[in-house]
Amino acid sequence: MSQDQSPQPYTPAQRVERVAPSATIAIGNRATALEAEGVDVLDLSVGEPDFDTPENIKRAAEESLAAGETGYTQSRGIPELRAAIAERHRADGIDCGPENVLVTPGAKQALFEVIQALVDPDEEVVLLDPAWVSYEAMAKLAGASLRRVDTAPYGFALEPALDDLAAAVSDETELLVVNAPGNPHGAVYSDAALEGVRDLAREHGITVIADEIYDQITYGREQTSLAALSGMGDRTVTINGFSKAYAMTGWRLGYLVAPEPIVEQASTVHGHSVSCATNFVQHAGVEALRNTDAAVAEMVAAFEDRRDLLIEELADRGLEVPAPEGAFYLMLPVDDDDQRWCETAIDRAHVATVPGSAFGTDGYARLSYAAGADRLREAVARLDEHDLL
Ligand SMILES: Cc1ncc(COP(=O)(O)O)c(C=O)c1O
Repeated sequence: MSQDQSPQPYTPAQRVERVAPSATIAIGNRATALEAEGVDVLDLSVGEPDFDTPENIKRAAEESLAAGETGYTQSRGIPELRAAIAERHRADGIDCGPENVLVTPGAKQALFEVIQALVDPDEEVVLLDPAWVSYEAMAKLAGASLRRVDTAPYGFALEPALDDLAAAVSDETELLVVNAPGNPHGAVYSDAALEGVRDLAREHGITVIADEIYDQITYGREQTSLAALSGMGDRTVTINGFSKAYAMTGWRLGYLVAPEPIVEQASTVHGHSVSCATNFVQHAGVEALRNTDAAVAEMVAAFEDRRDLLIEELADRGLEVPAPEGAFYLMLPVDDDDQRWCETAIDRAHVATVPGSAFGTDGYARLSYAAGADRLREAVARLDEHDLL
């Protein structure tokens, strides 16, 4: 480095300094470093399906590219896709049309835009723990103050945690984030729980983000859409996307469905940050929504088999873990110092997991079962061999 005495060329922005680097990425980096040394790492830390994108969706993208659909699109998304998204969610009971839809490069971008659009510095955002890592980061980037309600003592169910939620929210609360089926816990929330959220939101004038990106990945019990409840249509932002159900993580396609003034506000952030989602990817998204039900059902059935296998393997070793009803994650109770447990798991057993503390709840490790049956069996065996179960 030079010994230049001139003033520092930059000072880091405070709002970024407040955000911790993603724990998921840190574990991923450790796994990658071990793999580079030739170690066979069983990676149960990743939040993506291990399936390839269904063929009909790939073909639709190829045809779109061949047809020259490579320019910018309307900022809010191509009309066919916005119409198909609105139609899908009307079928779930949400009163919406294309004017309520904003298509984004991934659901993450939709969340980022809506939080930027709604939250002013020092306004209060409430999270239900364990909460997916990026909600906290996005709220902090908007300058929000955070309140957290832990659902772990209730086995990750929301209904018994409603009193705690009622104690946490107030007229000062700007935004509440509800994620079901949830990452990292896999819980599906009951209608009674959602009605409790509705009553609190209406009482205190709260806008609710309902992140339902895993809504097609459920096992036996469906997740009701929060925005479909009477009295919630005008205060709910529904987040969804193509990454999980259609195995399209790398395509970057998601969206929000919201009352028009919120779409308007988020569109301003959208237009000045990403302009639009990728043109031919949006055309592939129309095909995904219209013609992929059978492939989605096959993937969901495979996730269910793997969930059952993981639960069985753990039970065989004396660990009874309740079966999550959605998504493809399981919270495994581990040592209080879950960070150290996860480090030992990767360094000694070469099994990558994510500490519960990264999601706001200590004492657990998140295992993703979006991995083949043999890998799951082997992962549990290795954890057992190293006395980690
Ligand atoms: C709960 C939840 N919401 C949103 C996302 C973002 O998905 P994407 O940006 O890939 O659409 C994820 C991805 O892990 C997630 O788990």
